[in-house]
Amino acid sequence: MRLDQSTWLEVEQYLTNESTCIIIPTGSTEQHGPMGLIGTDALCAESIATLAGEIGSILVAPTLAYTPAPFNTHFPGTISLSVECFEKMLDEIIQQLTAQGFEYLYFLNGHGANLDPLKRCIKRFPSAQFRLKSWWDFEEVNSLRQQFYGEWEGMHATPSEVAITQATHRIIEAGSAIKPPEKLTAQYIRNHSGDKHGPPDKHRAQFPDGRVGSHSALAKPEHGQLILRAASLALVKDCESFFRNV
Ligand code: NI
Repeated sequence: MRLDQSTWLEVEQYLTNESTCIIIPTGSTEQHGPMGLIGTDALCAESIATLAGEIGSILVAPTLAYTPAPFNTHFPGTISLSVECFEKMLDEIIQQLTAQGFEYLYFLNGHGANLDPLKRCIKRFPSAQFRLKSWWDFEEVNSLRQQFYGEWEGMHATPSEVAITQATHRIIEAGSAIKPPEKLTAQYIRNHSGDKHGPPDKHRAQFPDGRVGSHSALAKPEHGQLILRAASLALVKDCESFFRNV
């Protein structure tokens, strides 16, 4: 059940009779390597949330696709908001949803750099209930990622996210991405988790085709279908435990 495809009467009825929970997908608008769509993070979070919303009869807010991705701005197509601007937008959205009676706000995230700003915003609203998860955090999803791609999942333009957009939106030939990217060291992964990457010129110089340790060409739409399904079912389960306080 998408908020943008509901009427205000339906939303009022939902709040009165069904639930005060809403899922808010968060993504990004940034390069995702030679065969990943610019909107990958937003499209993945949105597809998973939309399917979960249908299965579990939960409202899903419009996806937040403009977010901070400063390290990717030297690749064309990337649009990065400042952290301050993103947090301000989050604050205003949370204020309005809570004022209307939404008590349980579930952020389903698809972009590492959103996590710290989201955590800070959540702290500013102590009376509301929040849950924040990235879709790859669900155990069921993680085991599929491991099973399909192992270490080649990498950090950016991951085969799992490309597989989801292949299943839901568009397939792009691998081209030069058929060759695996440079493998990341364990130390690199530790130091850069949550998308803590350096300045955009250095980032592009270090990862010239945009992949950060991820072998995107291993993606298959059949994998994407399975990951999408597993993530959506896990999200429904987690939402139910969230608003029933189980
Ligand atoms: Ni991504």
